[in-house]
Amino acid sequence: MQRILSGIQPSGQLHIGNYFGMMEPMLRHMASSELYVFIANLHAMTSVQDKERLAQGTLEAAANFLALGLDPERCIFWVQSDVPEVCELAWLLSVVTPMGLLERCHSYKDKVAKKIPASHGLFAYPVLMAADILLYQPHLVPVGRDQKQHIEVARDIAGSFNSTFGETFMLPDGEINASTAIVPGLDGQKMSKSYDNTIPIFADEKTLRKRVMLIQTDATPVAEPKNPDTCNLYALLKLFAAPERLQEIHDLYMHGGAAYGYLKQELFELINARFAPARERKKELLANPEHIRDLLRQGAEKAREKGARTLALARERVGQGY
Ligand code: TYM
Repeated sequence: MQRILSGIQPSGQLHIGNYFGMMEPMLRHMASSELYVFIANLHAMTSVQDKERLAQGTLEAAANFLALGLDPERCIFWVQSDVPEVCELAWLLSVVTPMGLLERCHSYKDKVAKKIPASHGLFAYPVLMAADILLYQPHLVPVGRDQKQHIEVARDIAGSFNSTFGETFMLPDGEINASTAIVPGLDGQKMSKSYDNTIPIFADEKTLRKRVMLIQTDATPVAEPKNPDTCNLYALLKLFAAPERLQEIHDLYMHGGAAYGYLKQELFELINARFAPARERKKELLANPEHIRDLLRQGAEKAREKGARTLALARERVGQGY
């Protein structure tokens, strides 16, 4: 059985980019694999440095996953910091991680370019991420396109450790689905909290509708043909519309008759119908946070047990078994 792992930061509201890039593939894998899912609260500290926000965000991120159908009986589901072994492994990995490898990381360079203060945590983010992955020896790591380089870095670090200290880590593969690798936001750039162009999954109906109406489109008159492949609204409709309806919409684009306002309303209704039940479930879950904490604690116990085996091997390999 394939072992599959991925994580999400509890920073900001969950959006449909996160959903299609990572959550939906993970939920699909749940039936047929050994699934590891965690809330990356230590990574989130590179941007969230507020006690209440981090704590509440962590609980909400867990509720999001549970509301969308993650079954803790059929996976291992935990909060990153509840398995402190990951920080120790990150150190062992850091001594075989060349500075240049981290200096080349786009995500770090983009943040520095945006004048986000370059802390050591931000710089070492990919090393901790490598530890998250390697601690559990997964075969596959489903992510969006923006995390591709981080998976490659994890593989490089694993290779470097193996060649320095002897075969220890399996090299994991990223899983990036071409059709959902980069879900566009309202403005056509990658949907991202940092661009303020997201469609949040759990927003109430009114906010959701407002966001969808903000999707940017061109000024081509309704009757004229338009290119669906360069239209942001069409790219989002593709994720939600049934195949027959999508074909009809495609025809409207090609031959004239695609009214953006009408299609936005249709998209809003599709998104709302898809996530309204999860929105209700999330409310119920958050009404009993102790239950969520219990589930996460049980998950962390299982994760620690699995991770401890890899860490023991790594410790032994580097010579801690004096
Ligand atoms: P985070 O929380 O930033 O993003 C969570 C997942 O959402 C994907 N994603 C997208 N996919 C498609 N289109 C988009 N517009 C879009 N925006 C976000 C991200 O690619 C990601 O898969 N570093 C990770 C968290 C992490 C992790 C790990 C992941 C920490 N340790 C170990 C896997 C394995 C992150 O950026 O999460």
